[in-house]
Amino acid sequence: MIRQGFSLVAVTAGLMVASGVWAETAHSMDDPNIAVSYEEDGRYYTEDDIPTFNISEDGAVDWLTFSGFRRYHSECHVCHGPDGEGSTYAPALKKSALTMDYYDFVDVATNGRQKIGAAENSVMPAFGTNLNVMCYLDDIYVYLKARGMEAVPRGRPAKKAAKSDAIRESENACMGM
Ligand code: HEC
Repeated sequence: MIRQGFSLVAVTAGLMVASGVWAETAHSMDDPNIAVSYEEDGRYYTEDDIPTFNISEDGAVDWLTFSGFRRYHSECHVCHGPDGEGSTYAPALKKSALTMDYYDFVDVATNGRQKIGAAENSVMPAFGTNLNVMCYLDDIYVYLKARGMEAVPRGRPAKKAAKSDAIRESENACMGM
């Protein structure tokens, strides 16, 4: 009886610590890895020049967040689950986008990753030669960040900012059009 009591307390305390840490480290819009520091031709950046999302007062998401929603669902969701929620096969990228360094995120998407000695076959493919991913990686990244912050609900964003000429031009250049 005493033993059972102890282990229940331990498990509960563990859960509380786990959720407390998550809320503390990731759920503030003032986080320097989240907060918009400046805008450039319709793209938003943190003070460290890391891409981030923006939601305007009327609820419209920035163009990259909207584009990222579409690109994520055509290239990533088969493994990572709809809306960045994760699956039994691959992790929830809405969390990864908040906890991983931007450059590590880009590196894994570009070069792939395989867990060495994992019991199950767990492979993240390399997308480095897939222009439909590489030309839109920042879009996917900022969309997932917005999902991680629950700044956009699940599903297709209802309102979006217009696509700037600069974004259109850099996309075309990247895609070789
Ligand atoms: C064929 C299935 C598959 C597809 C498609 C896929 N992934 Fe993955 N991804 C995985 C698996 C499995 C892992 C976990 C690998 C590991 O544990 O090392 C992973 C891990 C990752 C990670 C590391 C997450 C973390 O928290 O460590 C990132 C980032 C990532 N994927 C990005 C993407 C992006 C972006 C796309 C779409 C362009 C994508 N993945 C499409 C299977 C996939």
